[in-house]
This record gives sequence, structure tokens and C-alpha cells, in this order.
Amino acid sequence: MTRRYSRIAGTGSFLPPRRVTNAELAADLARCGIETSDEWIVERTGIRARHFADPDVASSDLGAEAARRALAAAGVQPGEIDLIIVATSTPDVVFPSTAAILQHKLGIAGCPAFDVQAVCSGFIHALAVADAMIQSGAASKSLVVGAEVFSRILDFSDRTTCVLFGDGAGAVILEASGWPGILATDLHADGGLVNILCVPGNVAGGRVLGDPFVRMEGQLVFKHAITVLGETARAVLAKAGKTEADIDWLVPHQANIRIMLGSAKKLHLPPEKMIVTVDQHGNTSAASVPLALDSGVRAGQIKRGQTLLLEAVGGGLTWGAVLAVF
Ligand code: ACO
Repeated sequence: MTRRYSRIAGTGSFLPPRRVTNAELAADLARCGIETSDEWIVERTGIRARHFADPDVASSDLGAEAARRALAAAGVQPGEIDLIIVATSTPDVVFPSTAAILQHKLGIAGCPAFDVQAVCSGFIHALAVADAMIQSGAASKSLVVGAEVFSRILDFSDRTTCVLFGDGAGAVILEASGWPGILATDLHADGGLVNILCVPGNVAGGRVLGDPFVRMEGQLVFKHAITVLGETARAVLAKAGKTEADIDWLVPHQANIRIMLGSAKKLHLPPEKMIVTVDQHGNTSAASVPLALDSGVRAGQIKRGQTLLLEAVGGGLTWGAVLAVF
């Protein structure tokens, strides 16, 4: 019997139009007495600009637009989709899921639609879940989305975090196939590290309890990120029976160019084999990997038949990787 795989049939992405450069952000922050500079941000992170959504735009709006572009790229009609998974840490509302809201915005109903919460590695988790459901026969044509309005949870009086993140969405259509497709996936979490990267607040009794903003121990996250990304990359290659030499493109979570270059170096990959969007998007959390993937595809860098290593680390900590033939 031939094995059932999942393959990426199409990709799409969407950025809210408002682009904010480091210089513009620094000028805004200076008006509130917060000191930063384009030089500091570029040198420490590689970020030059990010996009911020307007107040009336939700993750599902960005995600729906990215989904429409992925559907068009795949030549798939919304009604053919039989599974929707949205990775987000900035859902439209507490409930229902952003996936259910997005499903309705695409004009479809009936198929399962749910969110996955693994912060910046959410899209990797969502892709692995969709892959498993397609392999099992539970789904045939899935829409997998990473969508964030991270600007909503930034404390603009905290310069150690507010310069790092942006808003956006990316999507893929994952469909059943007789050939790969996704070769292997690898997922992990360590809840012992919840406090080094979190939004510790909650909603209760009609009020926000605790702190509703991103808090991060940047250097600790940096150190763990380098370690776990190396481990998950090696693990996913081993599961697929592949080596570093088989990788055509590294599509990493776009958090910090120094972490990304460190990951590429550990895999003995030259920087030219890595898709980079962090300079223009900042860290868009769950949207970052599918945004980078779509950017690489549309720029003509990533071609059919090439082998991609997608990897990410995020709050939790959570981390993981997907190895796929595009
Ligand atoms: N502008 C100017 N100066 C700043 C800024 C800023 N925006 N932010 C911090 N500084 C200052 C600090 O106060 C400090 O000053 P001091 O030396 O006088 O105390 C100095 O710059 C150096 O600060 P560090 O924290 O040592 O800077 P570092 O080189 O570690 O860079 C950074 C900080 C960019 C946050 C880095 O640690 C990092 O990228 N960490 C990982 C983040 C990450 O990967 N997140 C991924 C997951 S995200 C998710 O899951 C939601």
C-alpha cells in the first residue's frame, strides 16, 4: 500500500499596510521618554521595520487575507477545505477560536476549525498536527494559518520588548499526496521555562488580572533558543533519514538575525541558504515562519522539489521543526 503524505500545495501571506521603521518607532518612543535607536535595534536584532495593524483589524482579518492568497496559489476553492488550524497568541477574543471566526470570513462552514497556542512555534505545531491528520485520513485539504496582532500585547514603555515584534499572517494549503511533502516533524515543550517569555495576565471577573503585556528575559531566551533549535533540527533530520547536506533552504522563526545565523552555522549552512524577513517584518510570532516561507516562494528563491527545514522556538518554552520537500 502506498503511504499517504501531506504536501504544501500553496502559500500566502499578508501584512497590514502600516509600516513602521526603527527611526519612526524611536521617534514615537522618544516622545514618551523611552530611548532607543535604529543603530541599537539593527545591531542587536537585524530588525529595520515592522508592520502594525490598525486598532479595528484582528488576527482573523490578517489570517483570512493570507488564506485567500494561499488558496489562490494552490488553485483550491474555500469549500474544498476540510480542516482549519490557526496558530496565534493574539486571538480575536477569548473564545470562540480565531479559526472558527476565520472559517466564517472565508464563507465556509462545517469543517473542523481550531486554534493552536504555542506562541512563536505555533505554526510549526499547527503544521505538524495538520500533517498527522492528513496522514491518518482525518483530513485531505487543510488550511494552516499563523496570524498575530502582537502589537496589542506590547508594552511601549518597555524598550527591551516593544522594538522586537510586528503584526502579520501567513498560510499554507496542505493536501494529501502519494509522495512527500512533509518528511518528518519534531515538537517539544518545557513548561519549567514559562516565566522567561510570557504574557502573565488573565481576564477574570470582568477585569484584566495581572500583567497583560509581553515579558521576556531576552538573554535567557536567546541562550535556550540556540540550544533547542540545534536539537530539533538534528532530530527532524534523523527522523527523516536525511543530513544537513540535504537542506536547500532553512526557513527559521524570524526573531533575531543573530539567533538565525547561529542556527544556520550549527547546521553548516551558509547564510545564503536561509530565508530572512526579520529585517522587514520583525518578530511576528506564529506568523513568522509562514510569512518567511511565502516570501521565499514568491521571490522565486524556494522552488518545487527543494527540501526545506522549518524551525521555531517560542514562549513555553515550545520548539519544533518540520522537514518538507516543497
Ligand atoms: N534600545 C536601546 N537600548 C536597549 C534596548 C533598546 N530597544 N533594549 C535594551 N537596551 C539596553 C539594555 O538596557 C542594556 O543596557 P545596559 O547595558 O546599560 O544595562 C543593553 O541595551 C544591552 O541589553 P541586553 O539585554 O544585554 O541586549 P542583548 O544583546 O541581549 O539583546 C535582545 C536583547 C535583542 C532582546 C536579545 O536578548 C534577544 O534577541 N533575545 C531573544 C529574543 C527571542 O528570540 N525571542 C524569540 C521568541 S519570541 C516569542 O516566543 C514570543
